[in-house]
Amino acid sequence: MTVRAILHYPDPRLRKKAQPVAVVDDGIRRLVDDMAETMYQAPGIGLAAIQIDVPQRIVVIDCSAQHNDLKVFINPVITRREGVYGIEEGCLSVPGIFEEVQRAQTVAVEALGRDGQPFTLIAQDLLAVCIQHEIDHLDGKVFVDYLSRLKQQRIRKKLEKQQRLAM
Ligand code: NI
Repeated sequence: MTVRAILHYPDPRLRKKAQPVAVVDDGIRRLVDDMAETMYQAPGIGLAAIQIDVPQRIVVIDCSAQHNDLKVFINPVITRREGVYGIEEGCLSVPGIFEEVQRAQTVAVEALGRDGQPFTLIAQDLLAVCIQHEIDHLDGKVFVDYLSRLKQQRIRKKLEKQQRLAM
């Protein structure tokens, strides 16, 4: 397993629309394992493949307190949304920024697992937020997009400055 480099906002590669995975083969499983390794090492609770510059519809999430409940979603689709729920979100691609976003409180999601088998999951609260946040990434969307234009500008400037300093 390899820890991959994570793209940082406002990198335009985060805006790509990810393509569906055609076959869940060993190459995809290796990618999933790298994504999990990268997420745990960061550390974070969710990662979409697009964040490591792979525009495929794959998400890994682990919202558990013990970091021992890895969930893998390949070609995920939200089929139901209910309620309203908001928490301060962060993102491995937007380091140091935490802002509240309004999401659905409960979602039903259909996806393929690491084994290629389809499953349906009903998620609430933090896990539901995480699923919505990560699936947004697959459509080229970042949580910052939900904030006011002023906040978006401030975040963009702050991160561009950080990236210049990091070079
Ligand atoms: Ni994110």
